[in-house]
Amino acid sequence: RRHPRRIIITGGAGFIGSNFVHYWCDRYPEDRVIVLDALTYAGNLRNLESLEERPNFRFVQGDICDRLLLDALLKQEKVDAIAHLAAESHVDRSILSPGAFVRTNVVGTFTLLEAFRHHWEAHQKPSHYRFLHVSTDEVYGSLGSDDPAFSETTPYAPNSPYSASKAGSDHFARAYYHTYNLPTLITNCSNNYGPYHFPEKLIPLMCINILLSKSLPVYGDGQNVRDWLYVEDHCRALDTVIHQGQPGETYNIGGNNEVKNIDLVHMLCDLMDELAPDLPVRPCHQLITYVKDRPGHDRRYAIDASKIKTELGWTPQETVAAGLRKTVQWYLDHPNWWRPLLSEEYQAYYRKVYA
Ligand code: NAD
Ligand code: DAU
Repeated sequence: RRHPRRIIITGGAGFIGSNFVHYWCDRYPEDRVIVLDALTYAGNLRNLESLEERPNFRFVQGDICDRLLLDALLKQEKVDAIAHLAAESHVDRSILSPGAFVRTNVVGTFTLLEAFRHHWEAHQKPSHYRFLHVSTDEVYGSLGSDDPAFSETTPYAPNSPYSASKAGSDHFARAYYHTYNLPTLITNCSNNYGPYHFPEKLIPLMCINILLSKSLPVYGDGQNVRDWLYVEDHCRALDTVIHQGQPGETYNIGGNNEVKNIDLVHMLCDLMDELAPDLPVRPCHQLITYVKDRPGHDRRYAIDASKIKTELGWTPQETVAAGLRKTVQWYLDHPNWWRPLLSEEYQAYYRKVYA
């Protein structure tokens, strides 16, 4: 471990990014932490509120496609690590408007890699520099119910514009290690959940719709399977990979918690009935509504995380039951966080997807 580090966290005002920024600042208070985030619809400065007072913390509003900004920031801050989480992250939006996904996820990642390569080369290629590229299990495509879980050697088979753009960015991160020896690392993680999750994604959307007595839209037959990981477990895994991972390697990260969508929605309804007994619609299960399926909807994701476990000693600590309980309670306790997110833009998006 090499500290103090001077780390840029891209996408640090988003869901996983902000959890990671809090995690890193708590764990390594002596490090210089620079958040670079464009503050798209998914970026929210309120996620970082309590950090404004912290010495050694800086927020920069900027775009990862802006090479001049990147060059200046890397030089001025003498950065030695990047944790790259900035992305367009939502599959349904990628179906409606794929162009933004190519721009940020592919061109943005390439621009960041180029800037970091030149910065690293200008300092005689220090061996402790790190570029962590945070990616998704969706690059591996879809599994049948009896297929083995995704491993790091599973061939890429992305099915959505989102996963295709993430696959492209993964290939660039890999190529920069093999071509230039830039110390890049890639992680491919399953579905996260927890605080600060934007209400377009399944879990926060269902929680908030229950609180508003709105219908709970389940795509298709509700039998699609996702592997759920509490976001703090993901943050610990990213820390582990930055500090102990082998440059040039890929690590799969998963919660070992495969759940069918419809079962997950029932679990959320049970928790809401228990934790918010005064809601007008009870039991909230009656709000469940099957709606038309997502085009190209992947049937099942499952992660074989044995490499990060055996080589780096990371395992998830949270169970789905306990993690969901904490998450539901968080949305109950933070209406001032989620209410402002239900903007006109959000309503327009909602009408398009759930028309
Ligand atoms: P998010 O959508 O909540 O946040 C993305 C952040 O990136 C936002 O703050 C946004 O403002 C910022 N951003 C977008 N475009 C930008 C640009 N051009 N320049 C600078 N900043 C920009 O996403 P998330 O769910 O927190 O995901 C973070 C990363 O983790 C993504 O790379 C995603 O692919 C990956 N990932 C997510 C999950 C998950 O379940 N959410 C699972 C595995 C991997
Ligand atoms: O697997 C990792 C990926 O997980 C990340 O790379 C993505 O950034 C993240 O968004 C997430 O992708 P998913 O498409 O799996 O997540 P989402 O929350 O959109 O949907 C989870 C499942 O629930 C999926 O099978 C679709 C379904 N769903 C989703 C919504 C929003 C519904 O049935 N109804 C809904 O309204």
